[in-house]
Amino acid sequence: MHLRSAVLLSVLFAASATATKKCKCLPGDSCFPSQSDWNKFAKGLSQPLVSNQKPFASVCYNTSSNFNADECARRSAIQLDPESLIDAGNTVQLINFQDQLFSNGTVSQCPFDPLPGAVCNQGRVPVYSINATTVSDIQKTVAYASKHNLHLVVRNTGHELLGRAFGVGSVELLVHSMKQTNFSDSFVPQNAPPSTPGQHAVTIQPGVQWGEIYDLADQHDRLIVGGFSVGGTVGAGAGWPVGGGHSILSPFYGLGVDNLLQFTVVLPNASHVVANEYTNPDLFWALRGGGAPSFGVVTSVTHKTHDNVPFTAAFYGASANSSESFLQLMTTWVQHHNNLNEAGWGGLWPYFNNNLFLTLVSPGNPPTNPNALTAINSFFNASSQIPGVNVSLAATFPYRSFQQFVFENLGDTSLGHGLNFSEFHVSGSRAYLSSWFLPNNITAPENAEALAKAYVSVPAGTPYIIGGGVVSQVAENATAVTPAWRHSIADMTIIFSFNETSNATDYANAKKTVHSQIEPFRQLAPVPLGGQYLNEGDVSEPDWQQAHWGSNYARLLKIKKEIDPKDLLIVYHGVNSEAWDDEIVCKTV
Ligand SMILES: Cc1cc2nc3c(=O)[nH]c(=O)nc-3n(C[C@H](O)[C@H](O)[C@H](O)COP(=O)(O)OP(=O)(O)OC[C@H]3O[C@@H](n4cnc5c(N)ncnc54)[C@H](O)[C@@H]3O)c2cc1C
Ligand SMILES: *[C@@H]1O[C@H](CO)[C@@H](O)[C@H](O)[C@H]1NC(C)=O
Ligand SMILES: *[C@@H]1O[C@H](CO)[C@@H](O)[C@H](O)[C@H]1NC(C)=O
Ligand SMILES: *[C@@H]1O[C@H](CO)[C@@H](O)[C@H](O)[C@H]1NC(C)=O
Ligand SMILES: *[C@@H]1O[C@H](CO)[C@@H](O)[C@H](O)[C@H]1NC(C)=O
Ligand SMILES: *[C@@H]1O[C@H](CO)[C@@H](O)[C@H](O)[C@H]1NC(C)=O
Ligand SMILES: *[C@@H]1O[C@H](CO)[C@@H](O)[C@H](O)[C@H]1NC(C)=O
Ligand SMILES: *[C@@H]1O[C@H](CO)[C@@H](O)[C@H](O)[C@H]1NC(C)=O
Ligand SMILES: *[C@@H]1O[C@H](CO)[C@@H](O)[C@H](O)[C@H]1NC(C)=O
Ligand SMILES: *[C@@H]1O[C@H](CO)[C@@H](O)[C@H](O)[C@H]1NC(C)=O
Ligand SMILES: *[C@@H]1O[C@H](CO)[C@@H](O)[C@H](O)[C@H]1NC(C)=O
Ligand SMILES: *[C@@H]1O[C@H](CO)[C@@H](O)[C@H](O)[C@H]1NC(C)=O
Ligand SMILES: *[C@@H]1O[C@H](CO)[C@@H](O)[C@H](O)[C@H]1NC(C)=O
Repeated sequence: MHLRSAVLLSVLFAASATATKKCKCLPGDSCFPSQSDWNKFAKGLSQPLVSNQKPFASVCYNTSSNFNADECARRSAIQLDPESLIDAGNTVQLINFQDQLFSNGTVSQCPFDPLPGAVCNQGRVPVYSINATTVSDIQKTVAYASKHNLHLVVRNTGHELLGRAFGVGSVELLVHSMKQTNFSDSFVPQNAPPSTPGQHAVTIQPGVQWGEIYDLADQHDRLIVGGFSVGGTVGAGAGWPVGGGHSILSPFYGLGVDNLLQFTVVLPNASHVVANEYTNPDLFWALRGGGAPSFGVVTSVTHKTHDNVPFTAAFYGASANSSESFLQLMTTWVQHHNNLNEAGWGGLWPYFNNNLFLTLVSPGNPPTNPNALTAINSFFNASSQIPGVNVSLAATFPYRSFQQFVFENLGDTSLGHGLNFSEFHVSGSRAYLSSWFLPNNITAPENAEALAKAYVSVPAGTPYIIGGGVVSQVAENATAVTPAWRHSIADMTIIFSFNETSNATDYANAKKTVHSQIEPFRQLAPVPLGGQYLNEGDVSEPDWQQAHWGSNYARLLKIKKEIDPKDLLIVYHGVNSEAWDDEIVCKTV
């Protein structure tokens, strides 16, 4: 049976399908708990249970029981605001992961600005929502979901790019309100040998976001390795660290997972456990790159912190007046790429419509790497000599701290330089993404023309320089991330947007577009040489196990089967999801 029709059947004929025990219990199924059972469960929670949760825009439909014109106006005005979408609980950052449910070729959605007669469909918006504020809330929810075989989803900020924070007929465990942070100058993992020296670290609950922890770390005069997003909205304590976590600081300090000292998690059997190098080391290994929430619901994670050094940032902007000039610019850039990485630069370099922008950082002011300024000036000079290329910005600026760099370029962007990233944020829109790791020999100067041709074959892309340096010094099997990451310099990302008038064909085409646009990179660096960041996964990636984990997959699968024998925390293209349909509602084998 086709996967999608399996899901549809489970929705339409749920009672008969669940009789086989191959499906999760969805609302309407006879096995689904009654409202009075839910009410009993809710008495043990710290916050009110949300039953019958409706999509964010449902208030705009006069056919909807919660129709409210004022609330519709308020929500319409904030529908593209990242923080408002995070706080709401019934919406995610990329709206297509609410809609990504098709019935008879129609998209099951609930858009703003409904056409006359339009119906607000539930899509993949969870029907019940538990707003966890304590570890006990999480344990009770996990136990309840396991007992009743519910479709449990875990949602933090909802930045997920494969839609795993939502689900058909699901029960949502919301962790975003859990925001404690504890800084320590002498953190020792639990059960470490007595002589183990303490380290600078911060322990955070899952809901803490990068913008918040960058500020707090700076106030403690420390530096933390984290992600790059407008407003710092991505979570620092759940999907990012468990998925691997890349940072423009990774060349100097390693990946997110290379900076983690300890987790506390609620396992699928509701036990609350510690995982570190000394306690539950297999679980600790799996939690460093195995993907969330496959190995448990994170209740805290301890990140190392580093000395709060100053930074130098380099900004560049240029446009080419023809595709030939642009190819020459990109070729020249690739010729300098590895040298810049070796000279101590990390960063990102979006390009579109024959425009190239660089936003790079290097520790120190001036950079501690003695080759850093020569290397960047060498590219600036070389590019300015290309006929038809107009360089509008090529400069370096000092920053007191990484936090100051982040604040001025992603927070209050009126203070920033180069590309204004806030104009390109995707919150509240429909988009699919794909990505591919580029190993150091593929990005090497001798390969520059072939790689530049791959870049210009795509109208727009954002490659990140997040590898080399410390990333390449960690053993391939030290953490669960794909070994490809250890010899990659760059991560190429592509995003393709569409809109709320799109039909099922448009959705399918959008998926196909990003998948085919990344294909030239996959060809240049096939698995196991290359790979794909699971937090920037392609929904159509066929060989996702190898692309996301490579040779580490077998060990992950073994650990997953041990700790989640009832398949409670299975997600799309997550570890051990092979036997499930795309919506993780029914087993297909
Ligand atoms: C605008 C934008 C910028 C980004 N920038 C970067 C970047 O610079 N570097 C980078 O590495 N990645 C980046 N990402 C990808 C990002 O790391 C992932 O989207 C990540 O999964 C987000 O995690 P979250 O916890 O914030 O969000 P969510 O979508 O809420 O959760 C992500 C996943 O974790 C699960 N989960 C949530 N809470 C828990 C928990 N407590 N325990 C276990 N599982 C849980 C969810 O079920 C989901 O599968 C970016 C994404 C976006 C949209
Ligand atoms: C969850 O509970 C916290 C604490 O009461 C509250 O601040 C927050 O708004 C709640 N979130 C949702 C989505 O209801
Ligand atoms: C889907 O289409 C089939 C055949 O046209 C029809 O029998 C069925 O009722 C439709 N289902 C829905 C949910 O519209
Ligand atoms: C409901 O809204 C539609 C437009 O979306 C409008 O045409 C219709 O008259 C409204 N019905 C009522 C009862 O207000
Ligand atoms: C932070 O420290 C306090 C006091 O020791 C403790 O009660 C709390 O659980 C800690 N929180 C985290 C997330 O570690
Ligand atoms: C780049 O050009 C500038 C000005 O022409 C010059 O001062 C500088 O030395 C050059 N740098 C390199 C690395 O060639
Ligand atoms: C691009 O600029 C170059 C150099 O100024 C010029 O010779 C060329 O004619 C221009 N090409 C186009 C297509 O404008
Ligand atoms: C070069 O770019 C700048 C800034 O975008 C613009 O003002 C200028 O007119 C451009 N020059 C040419 C020759 O295109
Ligand atoms: C890069 O290195 C890999 C593995 O060492 C090799 O298989 C591949 O052919 C190399 N590619 C290029 C373009 O040098
Ligand atoms: C990791 O790799 C090293 C070196 O190849 C090997 O000795 C070790 O056994 C591996 N560890 C695991 C757990 O696979
Ligand atoms: C939505 O996308 C379609 C197809 O690409 C396009 O024709 C239409 O103009 C877009 N609508 C809006 C409101 O952007
Ligand atoms: C879907 O919409 C596109 C325009 O965006 C249109 O060309 C196509 O015919 C539509 N397909 C269906 C099945 O309605
Ligand atoms: C919960 O699962 C873990 C991992 O499989 C196991 O070690 C532990 O004994 C289990 N606890 C209970 C109470 O069953």
